[in-house]
Amino acid sequence: MPDNTKELVKWSQTFSVGIKIIDDQHRELLELTNDMFRHCVGEEKAEREYFEKVIHDAVDYVKIHFATEEKIMLKTGYAGYAEHKREHESFVLNVVEQIQAYNAGKPLVLNTFTRFLKEWILTHIAVSDKRYFEHFKRIATRKANGVLSISQNDIQKAVS
Ligand SMILES: [Fe+2]
Ligand SMILES: [Fe+2]
Repeated sequence: MPDNTKELVKWSQTFSVGIKIIDDQHRELLELTNDMFRHCVGEEKAEREYFEKVIHDAVDYVKIHFATEEKIMLKTGYAGYAEHKREHESFVLNVVEQIQAYNAGKPLVLNTFTRFLKEWILTHIAVSDKRYFEHFKRIATRKANGVLSISQNDIQKAVS
């Protein structure tokens, strides 16, 4: 049985890059990591079943998130775009290689995999994603509720 009281990472404002769509996606990524952590129950069969059930959707979600960031970076002429995209790509490659190794018969250590995800996601948000925040902030509009958002319009204005 999954332990629902376990929480490996808690969302905090310090992770906020200040743009709602990105923050929402980061929250969801942390939630995926926590869900995985809750399923680290030490029973191989249960962990394998869980892993096989969620891993493809999790990878798809990560790709959607990376694509969202990259699209905004590209459209707004962010100078660190290529480097940032490389970080995303090497992470996806690393995860895909781990899945392939698993499919080829390598034993799954869900706990190790979950901790690897957590470390990468938190470091990436805290360091690399925060780096583009200053750039986005210059072109984003601030809504009445104080949330920064980037509209198609803002992107248009920034690139024209
Ligand atoms: Fe991100
Ligand atoms: Fe990123």
